[in-house]
Amino acid sequence: MRKPVENFAKDIGRPDPAGRLDAPSFHRNKEGITAELIRLLGDGHGDVLEIGSGTGQHAVTFAAALPDLTFWPSDPVSDHIGSIDAWRTASGLGNVMPATSLNCCERPWRLGQRDLRPNNLDAVIAINVIHIAPWAVAEAIIEGAKEYLKSGGAMIFYGPYRKNGQHNSQGNIDFDAALRARNPSFGIRDLEDLMACADRNGLRFESETDLPANNKMIVFRA
Ligand SMILES: C[S@@+](CC[C@H](N)C(=O)[O-])C[C@H]1O[C@@H](n2cnc3c(N)ncnc32)[C@H](O)[C@@H]1O
Repeated sequence: MRKPVENFAKDIGRPDPAGRLDAPSFHRNKEGITAELIRLLGDGHGDVLEIGSGTGQHAVTFAAALPDLTFWPSDPVSDHIGSIDAWRTASGLGNVMPATSLNCCERPWRLGQRDLRPNNLDAVIAINVIHIAPWAVAEAIIEGAKEYLKSGGAMIFYGPYRKNGQHNSQGNIDFDAALRARNPSFGIRDLEDLMACADRNGLRFESETDLPANNKMIVFRA
Protein backbone atom coordinates (compact mmCIF):
# COMPACT_ATOMS: atom_id res chain seq x y z
CA MET A 1 0.00 0.00 0.00
CA ARG A 2 1.21 3.50 -0.81
CA LYS A 3 2.43 5.53 2.19
CA PRO A 4 0.41 8.65 2.96
CA VAL A 5 1.93 11.94 1.83
CA GLU A 6 3.61 13.78 4.73
CA ASN A 7 1.67 16.66 6.16
CA PHE A 8 3.99 19.60 5.55
CA ALA A 9 1.56 21.85 7.45
CA LYS A 10 2.87 20.26 10.67
CA ASP A 11 6.26 21.94 10.07
CA ILE A 12 4.93 25.45 9.75
CA GLY A 13 2.59 25.91 12.65
CA ARG A 14 -1.07 26.65 12.95
CA PRO A 15 -3.23 28.37 10.38
CA ASP A 16 -4.52 31.87 11.05
CA PRO A 17 -8.22 32.32 11.94
CA ALA A 18 -9.08 32.35 8.24
CA GLY A 19 -7.40 28.94 7.79
CA ARG A 20 -4.27 30.20 6.01
CA LEU A 21 -0.92 28.53 6.61
CA ASP A 22 2.16 30.73 6.22
CA ALA A 23 5.45 29.12 5.08
CA PRO A 24 8.59 31.14 5.93
CA SER A 25 10.33 29.93 2.75
CA PHE A 26 7.56 31.49 0.65
CA HIS A 27 8.58 34.98 1.79
CA ARG A 28 12.27 34.36 1.08
CA ASN A 29 11.87 33.06 -2.48
CA LYS A 30 8.61 34.36 -3.93
CA GLU A 31 10.06 37.32 -5.82
CA GLY A 32 12.61 35.34 -7.84
CA ILE A 33 10.14 32.59 -8.66
CA THR A 34 7.39 35.00 -9.68
CA ALA A 35 9.72 37.05 -11.89
CA GLU A 36 10.84 33.89 -13.70
CA LEU A 37 7.26 32.73 -14.22
CA ILE A 38 6.36 36.12 -15.67
CA ARG A 39 9.29 35.77 -18.07
CA LEU A 40 8.29 32.22 -19.03
CA LEU A 41 4.49 32.44 -19.08
CA GLY A 42 3.71 36.13 -19.36
CA ASP A 43 2.35 35.83 -22.90
CA GLY A 44 -0.02 32.95 -22.07
CA HIS A 45 -3.80 32.97 -21.69
CA GLY A 46 -4.48 29.38 -20.71
CA ASP A 47 -4.40 27.09 -17.67
CA VAL A 48 -1.59 26.32 -15.26
CA LEU A 49 -1.76 23.31 -12.91
CA GLU A 50 0.28 23.57 -9.73
CA ILE A 51 1.30 20.25 -8.15
CA GLY A 52 1.94 20.25 -4.39
CA SER A 53 0.65 23.78 -3.77
CA GLY A 54 1.20 23.43 0.00
CA THR A 55 -0.04 26.56 1.74
CA GLY A 56 -1.45 28.06 -1.49
CA GLN A 57 0.56 31.27 -1.15
CA HIS A 58 2.38 30.73 -4.43
CA ALA A 59 -0.82 30.10 -6.39
CA VAL A 60 -2.40 33.39 -5.34
CA THR A 61 0.87 35.30 -5.83
CA PHE A 62 1.32 33.93 -9.35
CA ALA A 63 -2.34 34.52 -10.20
CA ALA A 64 -2.05 38.16 -9.14
CA ALA A 65 1.11 38.61 -11.23
CA LEU A 66 -0.24 36.76 -14.29
CA PRO A 67 -3.89 37.81 -14.57
CA ASP A 68 -4.40 36.33 -18.05
CA LEU A 69 -3.60 32.81 -16.86
CA THR A 70 -5.89 30.60 -14.77
CA PHE A 71 -4.17 28.79 -11.90
CA TRP A 72 -5.35 25.38 -10.68
CA PRO A 73 -3.72 24.64 -7.32
CA SER A 74 -3.64 21.06 -6.04
CA ASP A 75 -2.31 18.98 -3.17
CA PRO A 76 -3.01 15.55 -1.68
CA VAL A 77 -3.10 16.73 1.97
CA SER A 78 -6.44 17.96 3.29
CA ASP A 79 -4.89 20.56 5.63
CA HIS A 80 -3.14 22.04 2.61
CA ILE A 81 -6.33 22.07 0.54
CA GLY A 82 -8.00 24.04 3.34
CA SER A 83 -5.18 26.59 3.41
CA ILE A 84 -5.07 26.95 -0.38
CA ASP A 85 -8.79 27.67 -0.47
CA ALA A 86 -8.48 30.13 2.43
CA TRP A 87 -5.74 32.07 0.58
CA ARG A 88 -7.85 31.94 -2.58
CA THR A 89 -10.92 33.32 -0.83
CA ALA A 90 -8.91 36.08 0.85
CA SER A 91 -7.27 37.05 -2.45
CA GLY A 92 -10.58 37.71 -4.17
CA LEU A 93 -8.87 36.70 -7.44
CA GLY A 94 -11.02 35.25 -10.19
CA ASN A 95 -8.16 33.41 -11.87
CA VAL A 96 -7.38 30.95 -9.05
CA MET A 97 -9.59 27.88 -9.08
CA PRO A 98 -10.63 25.90 -5.98
CA ALA A 99 -7.93 23.48 -4.88
CA THR A 100 -8.03 19.98 -6.35
CA SER A 101 -7.11 16.99 -4.20
CA LEU A 102 -4.38 15.42 -6.32
CA ASN A 103 -1.71 12.86 -5.48
CA CYS A 104 0.32 12.95 -8.67
CA CYS A 105 1.28 9.27 -8.24
CA GLU A 106 -2.35 8.23 -8.64
CA ARG A 107 -2.76 8.26 -12.35
CA PRO A 108 -4.59 9.00 -14.52
CA TRP A 109 -4.91 12.38 -12.80
CA ARG A 110 -8.51 13.15 -11.93
CA LEU A 111 -8.44 16.89 -12.16
CA GLY A 112 -12.18 16.93 -11.90
CA GLN A 113 -12.67 20.34 -13.40
CA ARG A 114 -14.14 21.31 -16.67
CA ASP A 115 -11.16 22.58 -18.64
CA LEU A 116 -8.41 20.32 -17.43
CA ARG A 117 -8.46 17.73 -20.15
CA PRO A 118 -5.36 15.99 -21.53
CA ASN A 119 -3.30 18.06 -23.97
CA ASN A 120 -4.87 21.24 -22.67
CA LEU A 121 -2.56 22.83 -20.10
CA ASP A 122 -0.18 25.70 -20.79
CA ALA A 123 2.04 24.74 -17.87
CA VAL A 124 2.51 22.37 -14.97
CA ILE A 125 4.53 23.79 -12.07
CA ALA A 126 6.03 21.98 -9.08
CA ILE A 127 7.75 24.18 -6.53
CA ASN A 128 9.79 22.62 -3.72
CA VAL A 129 8.13 19.25 -4.28
CA ILE A 130 10.47 16.64 -5.73
CA HIS A 131 13.19 16.75 -3.05
CA ILE A 132 10.61 16.52 -0.22
CA ALA A 133 9.00 13.42 -1.73
CA PRO A 134 10.15 10.05 -3.10
CA TRP A 135 11.75 10.06 -6.58
CA ALA A 136 8.60 8.32 -7.88
CA VAL A 137 6.83 11.66 -7.39
CA ALA A 138 9.16 13.39 -9.85
CA GLU A 139 8.56 10.60 -12.35
CA ALA A 140 4.79 10.79 -11.87
CA ILE A 141 4.76 14.58 -12.35
CA ILE A 142 6.63 14.25 -15.63
CA GLU A 143 4.45 11.38 -16.84
CA GLY A 144 1.28 13.31 -15.99
CA ALA A 145 2.60 16.52 -17.52
CA LYS A 146 3.37 14.70 -20.75
CA GLU A 147 -0.28 13.69 -20.88
CA TYR A 148 -1.87 17.00 -19.87
CA LEU A 149 0.35 19.66 -21.46
CA LYS A 150 -0.57 21.07 -24.82
CA SER A 151 2.12 21.02 -27.48
CA GLY A 152 4.71 23.63 -26.47
CA GLY A 153 3.41 23.75 -22.88
CA ALA A 154 5.95 24.12 -20.07
CA MET A 155 6.86 21.72 -17.26
CA ILE A 156 8.51 23.88 -14.62
CA PHE A 157 10.35 22.66 -11.51
CA TYR A 158 11.78 24.90 -8.80
CA GLY A 159 14.09 23.85 -5.97
CA PRO A 160 17.67 22.81 -5.21
CA TYR A 161 19.53 20.39 -7.52
CA ARG A 162 22.81 18.53 -7.65
CA LYS A 163 24.69 18.81 -10.93
CA ASN A 164 27.44 16.43 -12.05
CA GLY A 165 27.06 14.76 -8.66
CA GLN A 166 27.87 17.97 -6.78
CA HIS A 167 25.80 20.22 -4.55
CA ASN A 168 26.15 23.93 -5.25
CA SER A 169 26.52 25.08 -1.63
CA GLN A 170 27.24 23.89 1.90
CA GLY A 171 23.68 24.91 2.73
CA ASN A 172 22.34 22.39 0.21
CA ILE A 173 24.71 19.65 1.47
CA ASP A 174 23.28 20.18 4.96
CA PHE A 175 19.71 20.41 3.68
CA ASP A 176 20.09 17.17 1.69
CA ALA A 177 21.44 15.34 4.76
CA ALA A 178 18.53 16.63 6.85
CA LEU A 179 15.98 15.53 4.23
CA ARG A 180 17.47 12.02 3.98
CA ALA A 181 17.62 11.70 7.77
CA ARG A 182 13.95 12.59 7.95
CA ASN A 183 12.99 10.18 5.20
CA PRO A 184 15.53 8.08 3.24
CA SER A 185 13.40 8.39 0.09
CA PHE A 186 13.67 12.21 0.14
CA GLY A 187 16.69 14.18 -1.05
CA ILE A 188 17.98 16.82 -3.43
CA ARG A 189 17.70 15.40 -6.93
CA ASP A 190 20.35 15.08 -9.60
CA LEU A 191 19.53 17.38 -12.48
CA GLU A 192 20.76 14.71 -14.90
CA ASP A 193 18.17 12.22 -13.53
CA LEU A 194 15.39 14.75 -14.00
CA MET A 195 16.55 15.50 -17.54
CA ALA A 196 16.77 11.80 -18.41
CA CYS A 197 13.25 11.19 -17.09
CA ALA A 198 11.87 14.13 -19.07
CA ASP A 199 13.66 12.93 -22.18
CA ARG A 200 12.22 9.41 -21.80
CA ASN A 201 8.78 11.00 -21.73
CA GLY A 202 9.28 13.21 -24.76
CA LEU A 203 9.66 16.50 -22.85
CA ARG A 204 12.44 18.68 -24.27
CA PHE A 205 14.87 20.41 -21.90
CA GLU A 206 14.65 24.16 -22.39
CA SER A 207 16.47 25.96 -19.59
CA GLU A 208 18.12 25.93 -16.19
CA THR A 209 18.10 29.27 -14.35
CA ASP A 210 19.95 29.97 -11.12
CA LEU A 211 17.79 31.73 -8.54
CA PRO A 212 18.61 33.08 -5.07
CA ALA A 213 19.39 30.76 -2.15
CA ASN A 214 21.09 28.20 -4.46
CA ASN A 215 17.81 27.15 -6.06
CA LYS A 216 17.11 26.61 -9.74
CA MET A 217 14.18 26.85 -12.12
CA ILE A 218 14.22 23.96 -14.60
CA VAL A 219 12.01 24.13 -17.68
CA PHE A 220 10.99 21.41 -20.11
CA ARG A 221 8.61 21.76 -23.06
CA ALA A 222 6.05 19.32 -24.41
C1 LIG B 1 7.70 21.30 0.83
S1 LIG B 1 6.05 21.33 0.34
C2 LIG B 1 6.08 22.66 -0.86
C3 LIG B 1 4.78 23.38 -0.92
C4 LIG B 1 4.75 24.62 -1.82
N1 LIG B 1 4.87 24.23 -3.22
C5 LIG B 1 5.84 25.58 -1.43
O1 LIG B 1 6.82 25.73 -2.15
O2 LIG B 1 5.68 26.21 -0.38
C6 LIG B 1 5.88 19.90 -0.68
C7 LIG B 1 4.46 19.71 -1.16
O3 LIG B 1 4.43 18.59 -2.04
C8 LIG B 1 3.24 17.89 -1.79
N2 LIG B 1 3.37 16.51 -2.24
C9 LIG B 1 4.13 15.53 -1.69
N3 LIG B 1 3.92 14.37 -2.31
C10 LIG B 1 3.03 14.61 -3.31
C11 LIG B 1 2.39 13.80 -4.29
N4 LIG B 1 2.62 12.49 -4.37
N5 LIG B 1 1.53 14.39 -5.16
C12 LIG B 1 1.29 15.71 -5.08
N6 LIG B 1 1.85 16.53 -4.15
C13 LIG B 1 2.70 15.98 -3.27
C14 LIG B 1 3.05 18.01 -0.29
O4 LIG B 1 1.72 17.74 0.14
C15 LIG B 1 3.48 19.44 -0.04
O5 LIG B 1 2.41 20.35 -0.12
